[in-house]
Amino acid sequence: MERILVIGCSGQIGSELVLELRGIYGNHNVFATDIKTPPLEISESGPFQILDVLDYKNLLHFVVRNKITQVYNLAAVLSSNAEKIPLQAWDINMRALMNTLQVARKSEAKKLFWPSSIAVFGPSTPRHNTPQLTIMEPNTVYGISKLAGERWGEYFFTKYGVDFRSVRYPGLISYKTEPGGGTTDYAVEIFFDAVKNNYYECFLSENTTLPMMFMDDAIKNTIRLMEADPEKLSLRSSYNMAGISFTPKELATEIKKHKPDFSVVYKPDFRQKIADGWPASIDDSIARKDWGLIDDYDVKNMVDHMLKKIDEKLNTKQ
Ligand SMILES: NC(=O)c1ccc[n+]([C@@H]2O[C@H](COP(=O)([O-])OP(=O)(O)OC[C@H]3O[C@@H](n4cnc5c(N)ncnc54)[C@H](O)[C@@H]3O)[C@@H](O)[C@H]2O)c1
Repeated sequence: MERILVIGCSGQIGSELVLELRGIYGNHNVFATDIKTPPLEISESGPFQILDVLDYKNLLHFVVRNKITQVYNLAAVLSSNAEKIPLQAWDINMRALMNTLQVARKSEAKKLFWPSSIAVFGPSTPRHNTPQLTIMEPNTVYGISKLAGERWGEYFFTKYGVDFRSVRYPGLISYKTEPGGGTTDYAVEIFFDAVKNNYYECFLSENTTLPMMFMDDAIKNTIRLMEADPEKLSLRSSYNMAGISFTPKELATEIKKHKPDFSVVYKPDFRQKIADGWPASIDDSIARKDWGLIDDYDVKNMVDHMLKKIDEKLNTKQ
């Protein structure tokens, strides 16, 4: 019987991951924690507790007391927010990871998921079809912390037998919870502004190609990796995950097919420089081979789905 702890359950990924895990493993076997109050459907469908991942003793107590067998650690300061508070972001991101690695080492919760990001790559990385193993010189504090985190994860696997598993998420697109301050947030905001105002001011330039993934695909693949046979995992750092690559202009064109009056103005800000250092497309063939990464959404059905769901969400609120 698995007993699962999700740290960072109130965020963009956690708020959807917890519900999916509860559907698979049973509501009372999935413990949701965060320093922020979660959406009602999380706190009402199973256990929720305020828990700070930076508080090592409390975290270890929680894991031992609740006989946790696996942990998903989603707590982090994201890319564009981290650039505003670099030293603090480094401290938070690294301590959040190290505490869960140590807890995994010391307790029965040996299986640990921790997400990395395409931010581990940098301007000197080949931009197209970026390979799994390549030049990695990230120039953001977020990317540096993710790259260091990948190395620590592999180290704890090799040295202490922690069952560390990770993917390098591309930008994630969802409608349930607001994104948490990343450079790919435009690809969520654009849908809300299209439905509300038929207008969007984009903080990236129109031809910035970035890899993205619809949340349903991200959650499905995350759980697939966690359920994979450990013998089949050839990588214990973090797997490339490609998703779909497009530019803001291409996304706007697809939205316009539903909303012909929709318009976008491009006003790149400090986030443009971050995006310029990231890959345009990714090679994820190793994840496909090792644990069967799949994706169901292309740009067209992702746009159909997002517009329909946001329309429903905003209309039920009124
Ligand atoms: N969303 C994306 O597009 C994306 C892309 C690549 C990687 N990731 C990674 O996935 C993970 C989750 O991302 P997200 O988009 O859900 O982020 P988010 O900011 O929406 O959610 C993170 C959650 O962690 C919580 N948290 C922060 N500090 C904490 C602490 N000390 N103790 C407990 N909880 C704490 C926050 O309150 C928040 O609810 C992060 O590691 C992020 O770097 C996300």
